[in-house]
Amino acid sequence: TEKTKLTAAVITLSDKGAMGLREDDSGKRVQERLMLAGYRVTDYVLLPDNEEKLRNELIRLADEKSVNLIITTGGTGFSQRDVTPEATMSVATRNAPGIAEAIRAESLKVTGRAMLSRGVSVIRNRTLIVNIPGSRKAVDECLDACLPQLEHGLNILL
Ligand code: MTE
Repeated sequence: TEKTKLTAAVITLSDKGAMGLREDDSGKRVQERLMLAGYRVTDYVLLPDNEEKLRNELIRLADEKSVNLIITTGGTGFSQRDVTPEATMSVATRNAPGIAEAIRAESLKVTGRAMLSRGVSVIRNRTLIVNIPGSRKAVDECLDACLPQLEHGLNILL
């Protein structure tokens, strides 16, 4: 019998995506990468850049669905509409800054603009939440930087 898979959820933050004006390649790529890494992806949500909506979704996925991991994509930059880090920090019970540090350190080897992502990584009870930027290219670079190490942490968090 197969051992129980860790569960994951993906949230894309995009005003254009939520309005149906842009295909969400990044969210789809995150799902694909998670499944390839052996996670059971239980939820995929496309939201506008809205702090309250993201906060409510993070709480639902962590508290009601008890997913092990939530990856958000988009809304981490300097635009006034970018509120992903604030919503994420507002639901945290503990900080886990090393993941965001590793993502930025690895990303800076590819582009100096990596310093412009304000993405955070935190824990809410038994759920790990990691913010990554919104471009499809950034998704692969940031998941390369962190995904191989997450399973060990998630098994300790259980
Ligand atoms: N990180 C990686 N690995 N690759 C990238 O291309 N783009 C940067 C940065 N981090 C990038 C990256 C840019 S240009 C911006 S503006 C910020 O992420 C914020 O992106 P977001 O607003 O889509 O979250």
